Amino acid sequence: MIQHYSQINFDEFGDDRGSLVSVEAFKNLPFEIKRMYYIYKTKSGIKRGCHSHKTLKQCLIVVSGSCSILVDDGKAQDTFLLNTPNQGLIIEGLIWRELFDFSDDAVVIVLANDYYENTTYIGTYEEFLDEFNQGQFA
Ligand code: TYD
Repeated sequence: MIQHYSQINFDEFGDDRGSLVSVEAFKNLPFEIKRMYYIYKTKSGIKRGCHSHKTLKQCLIVVSGSCSILVDDGKAQDTFLLNTPNQGLIIEGLIWRELFDFSDDAVVIVLANDYYENTTYIGTYEEFLDEFNQGQFA
């Protein structure tokens, strides 16, 4: 069963014009990028995500503002505050994730190693725990 999450730091190229971060598949990001989407204008008090996938690899980068991300591997939970554009959170496989506490100016970019496919979503926490328990005994 694939399950992994970790914070990743990207080099920031800064000069007197400002800053730039570059993300390249298999160079400073450990997977292929087939899709990018972004979340913005999130209304106050809203939670997003609240699902898991079985094998999808994603990297979440908050390029503006801030947002918190709860990750749950079926055994324990962690919460990350992302508030700098040169940091990301990699999430792979069977990890429940919830995005919350978005600042008004939050822009969250998500890089994914596969195309959108709503059939790969595990949309309830109960279903996620069932998958986790099946994986434990597989
Ligand atoms: P949703 O899965 O609810 O977003 P979140 O995980 O942030 O809660 O997606 C919202 C809508 O966008 C839904 O109609 C599906 C669509 N969507 C795509 O078409 N492609 C994508 O890559 C994603 C992530 C969502």
